[in-house]
Amino acid sequence: MAGRFPDEFLMELRMRCDIEQTISMYVPLKRRGKNLVGLCPFHNEKTPSFTVYPDSQSFYCFGCGAGGEVISFIRRAENLDFSEAVRFLADKAGMVMPSEGYDNSMAEKRKRTYEINKEAARFFNSCLFSEDGKEGLEYFKARGMKKSTITRFGLGFAPNKWDALLRHMREKGYSWEELYEANLANKSEKDGRVRFYDAFRNRVMVPIIDVRGNVVAFGGRVLDDSKPKYINSSDTLVYKKSLGVFGLNFAKNSGEKSLILVEGYMDAITLHQAGFTNVIACLGTAFTGEMAHLLSRYADEILLCYDNDEAGQKATSRALGVLNSIGMKVRVVHLSGGKDPDEILRKYGPERVRSLIDGAANDIEFELLRARKDLDLMSSDGKMKYLDAAAEILAKTKNKIAQDIYSSRLAEELSVDKKSIVTRIEQFGRRSQRIENKNRFKNIQQTSMSENAKAALQNSTNIKVIKAEELFIACIYHNPDFMGRLDGAISAEDFSVSDNRAIFTAMSERIKEGESLEFTFFSQTLTPEQMSTFVRITKKNENLSSTFKTCTDCIDVIKSSKQKGSAAAAGHLSDEDFLSLFNKKGTNN
Ligand code: UTP
Ligand code: MN
Repeated sequence: MAGRFPDEFLMELRMRCDIEQTISMYVPLKRRGKNLVGLCPFHNEKTPSFTVYPDSQSFYCFGCGAGGEVISFIRRAENLDFSEAVRFLADKAGMVMPSEGYDNSMAEKRKRTYEINKEAARFFNSCLFSEDGKEGLEYFKARGMKKSTITRFGLGFAPNKWDALLRHMREKGYSWEELYEANLANKSEKDGRVRFYDAFRNRVMVPIIDVRGNVVAFGGRVLDDSKPKYINSSDTLVYKKSLGVFGLNFAKNSGEKSLILVEGYMDAITLHQAGFTNVIACLGTAFTGEMAHLLSRYADEILLCYDNDEAGQKATSRALGVLNSIGMKVRVVHLSGGKDPDEILRKYGPERVRSLIDGAANDIEFELLRARKDLDLMSSDGKMKYLDAAAEILAKTKNKIAQDIYSSRLAEELSVDKKSIVTRIEQFGRRSQRIENKNRFKNIQQTSMSENAKAALQNSTNIKVIKAEELFIACIYHNPDFMGRLDGAISAEDFSVSDNRAIFTAMSERIKEGESLEFTFFSQTLTPEQMSTFVRITKKNENLSSTFKTCTDCIDVIKSSKQKGSAAAAGHLSDEDFLSLFNKKGTNN
């Protein structure tokens, strides 16, 4: 079949890219029995629920339900499609890709998008030094940017015309549609006629470059105070805005153990110019766990250096929470004397910035300072409010040593008894523990109800039917020989959950051809989500001692819902009936 990698190739890839070694590059793993566990890279968590199974070369996260084998892992971690993930791993393993027969149309499209972005960046840069770009060059100069900085960052200017870039790119052989897809052109439709025009006009241009050196997106700033101040590329084939960071291509080579995170392009550029080469900008997007994981690959510590306004402080607090939850070291730079790093740099010079960075507070100090900001500590009321807020902050850290140090300091500063502070911390600690337990329970309930189950519930399918479908899939996976004996007693259409249908179809095709049921082979037909479901189902039912009768019982349940409609099926078997049906067979479902 066209567009498929041969099994032998995938098997070799699986052997050379051992799942334990591959995932270790992204997640520190600890051995637990014959498996390994770590903090899941795909969601935020404090206690590891991400498990790697060397035996079956698979992984599964009990927190978020992500699962699969090594290729699915790379697809998720590197945001690639199947054949790109295969290429990525093959490159690492030093394997030559099979020359024909695999689908590389997405990879080709992506390559083309990179070329378009690169050419556009070149064009904007050349405009900056042309007649059309005078104003842009003036603007950068007025902000103190040197020529070498402009060149290093590839800064540019989008002329005040509707088609400057469009024309240039047409000459280079790119179509309007391609420019539209790359977010460089807009489209308007009027009287049934489609028109394309430049997305960036009369703006200074900042290219966003990824860690591999590709131009992936642009930010364009107005030259005056008009709105919107910035226009940014939205998601494309090569760019995910929520993961977009500016400057990481340089900062990753700074040789520093930390990354300094600022809000704006301009802050990042001027700080680099002043010699702070480990600065990156988060571009005003909310700091997410995914972003934290990305950064943790390049640094041991993050220094948050957001603007000195309410929005910046809120964002700091939020980012602190996210970074703490993945156990990343973090400190906060307090920008006294200016609204953002760029302003401080201009007003006081780099030494001041250096000393602010060196004096960065740890997260507890930051939260304590924030809590006392608007309080009058001379009044008893203000004092009490501050003590309460401080106790709550210290309770949250769970770090006993920090709690001890800061309660001593607080006691001294506010002249109160240290014991009363400690008691208050303990009270808050117990309260937050109760809340945490509750949330954990809620989470467990939510995740144990898989996507699969949720989707099915939306179709008002009976939960028993879903269980039967999953159990059936697990039975067949562990006993492929049952399939032949079933003699067509069940077909894909009988499954009510679409993911289960896809898994069943993929399994039966391979079994029919007498091919092995290694997870690796499924990753080219199933989506990452379906892979997750597949691995979850087989892990859950791993120790089940299923007989052929289990299979046919499952089929009865699955088919009964088909015949009577899902509403009737709900009343067909009680929970007890269902459980006893399977318990008698000694299953663990
Ligand atoms: P700022 O308004 O602080 O911008 O927003 P800045 O880069 O520091 O610009 P100057 O120094 O005032 O010229 C911080 C970041 O938020 C995003 C941009 O990425 C900006 O760099 N932003 C801001 C937008 O995407 N759109 C906007 O309209 C404003
Ligand atoms: Mn700013």
